[in-house]
Amino acid sequence: MASIESILTETRVFPPADAFARQANVSGMDGYEALCRQAESDYEGFWANLARQHIDWKKPFTRTLDESGAPFYKWFDDGELNVSYNCLDRHLASKGDKTALIFEADDGSVTQVTYKELHARVCQFANGLKSLGVEQGDRVIVYMPMSIEAVVAMQACARIGAIHSVVFGGFSAKSLFERIEDARAKVIVTADESLRGGKAVPLKHAVDEALAMGDTSCVERVVVYRRSGGDIAWGGRDLWWHELAQTQAETCEPVWVSAEHPLFILYTSGSTGKPKGVQHSTGGYLLGAMLSMLWVFDAKPDSDVYWCTADVGWITGHTYVAYGPLSLGMTEVIFEGIPTFPHAGRFWETVAKHKVTTFYTAPTAIRSLIKLGSDLPAQYDLSSLRLLGTVGEPINPEAWMWYQQVIGGGRCPVVDTWWQTETGSHMIAPLPGAVPTKPGSCTLPLPGIMAAITDEHGGPVEKGHGGFLVIQRPFPSQLRTLWGDPDRFRKTYFPEELGGKTYLAGDSAHRDDDGYFWIMGRIDDVLNVSGHRLGTMEIESALVANPRVAEAAVVGRPHEIKGEAVVAYVVLKGTRPVGEEAKKIVAELRDWVGKEIGPIAKPDEIRFGDNLPKTRSGKIMRRLLRAIAKGEEITQDVSTLENPAILDQLKEAVK
Ligand code: PRX
Repeated sequence: MASIESILTETRVFPPADAFARQANVSGMDGYEALCRQAESDYEGFWANLARQHIDWKKPFTRTLDESGAPFYKWFDDGELNVSYNCLDRHLASKGDKTALIFEADDGSVTQVTYKELHARVCQFANGLKSLGVEQGDRVIVYMPMSIEAVVAMQACARIGAIHSVVFGGFSAKSLFERIEDARAKVIVTADESLRGGKAVPLKHAVDEALAMGDTSCVERVVVYRRSGGDIAWGGRDLWWHELAQTQAETCEPVWVSAEHPLFILYTSGSTGKPKGVQHSTGGYLLGAMLSMLWVFDAKPDSDVYWCTADVGWITGHTYVAYGPLSLGMTEVIFEGIPTFPHAGRFWETVAKHKVTTFYTAPTAIRSLIKLGSDLPAQYDLSSLRLLGTVGEPINPEAWMWYQQVIGGGRCPVVDTWWQTETGSHMIAPLPGAVPTKPGSCTLPLPGIMAAITDEHGGPVEKGHGGFLVIQRPFPSQLRTLWGDPDRFRKTYFPEELGGKTYLAGDSAHRDDDGYFWIMGRIDDVLNVSGHRLGTMEIESALVANPRVAEAAVVGRPHEIKGEAVVAYVVLKGTRPVGEEAKKIVAELRDWVGKEIGPIAKPDEIRFGDNLPKTRSGKIMRRLLRAIAKGEEITQDVSTLENPAILDQLKEAVK
């Protein structure tokens, strides 16, 4: 595999610059190693000290880690706290007038709120939710555009102990319905429309459609934030955000919850058709968010202007937009639009405009901006930047180098952060003042994170050889369970083959002679398209739900910008279409998947066959399909195929 080979031959190493190391929160390899040693010699004491040092507890905890119900681990569980208090109230005395959020709207207009103002808005909205009968433990779906209000909605839920489940605004009504139904949500918070690249995306309309799809009697109210002023239908359960919030008191006593109280559920794709409701805790999650901000982003709350481009619909937007930066009292930019609207320099213009110091984005965005050339960033003053981060998918060394040199001017460390929805916060990433970086490697685990690579039985793997990426000890920010499905939680993440207590990440990786981790890709049927996780089974289920389709198989193919592209092999109920008819059906099926899941899941390519290649036992030969999608020579034995002629059909993409 070309990408893996090029990574294997990567030998460039970038030690931290002296000036950066001197001012860093963790300085030098000895600083990093000292923290790792503390964790190794007294694992619980290490985490307990950090939890006491960084979190304001209403009631201090006396128990650190409870492993008695493994793998259902508990951290700090007799302690009580509130995340919204930790993100807002505790900063009011010292930095009430400091800017908390700089909202950069799609059209470039800017709105800022201070900590005092954000606190007042969160309290008003929390009081509003309470007035609707939302209580501790109730689920609230947030289906919102990037906005100050989205952060307010999440923080307001945290304030009253309600469990939010944010659904990315790009997901379809059908996906939204499935999440409403699974979470049994009491309230939905949405907007009339979101604006992306000058286009309106109807959110309220999708909510109306979702609510008509089945039994949604659990939903008592739909709160609508007026973003665009576009036309929307109005029903009995609907009410305007401003009407709900503006008359409420600007203070609201936080609900103090156990550290183990669920803060949120976030649905993500797995290897079956049904998305998994990843459930996070309060105390352990907050600790992971804070430590990684300090360690990996080297956060300097008094001088940084931090910008993470992720949408709050993804885990990155939870930990590194809605919670992490606020828990440290930082100033952060939140961005509604897309990187290239209204012009291709939008990202760099925004960095210059707000004097951003810390910039965190996905490799797919970097790769698409590289295509536009290096002259573009050169037109903007990027000298405020001091640290760059990437997340979501492997970054190819060439893109890493461009990011480091053209955007970072060779002076900013690049932190490639490996983690997942399930881990809640960074797991493997360089501490930028300590760990030398290598383009394409996420480097070394954070202190206290016992990451390793094993074979399928949990045994060791020789250096340089690929294996399963695992985490061998429980850590505070890990998911606690899958909402309503503890069995699937145990089987997916703590399989018996690995002893039942080791966290299986679902990625393969190898380590080099310096112990550095190199992520190779997923080991399950999960694709990573533009940094978004998509289950092949999910897309297959969506395709076969179309009345024309008899069978479908979906695989990934390397893609220059998106990382992976979605290739679907489809058998129709009628005859195999060709020419114009094939084109028409491709367009129809792509739209269909867009409606079933969301536009991000639309296949890039659809190929039709009279059948799919299967083994004697009827299993689809996916490896063969992956090879065909890449245009590789077929070296596998295909003599057992019923109809080898279909391979020729499947080599043809509909143009
Ligand atoms: O395959 C890994 C890839 O993204 C997966 C997690 O996806 P998700 O839960 O949506 O979270 C994305 C944001 C944290 C992982 O299993 N991945 C994430 N970060 C990296 C990565 N692959 C390589 N390098 C990374 N830095």
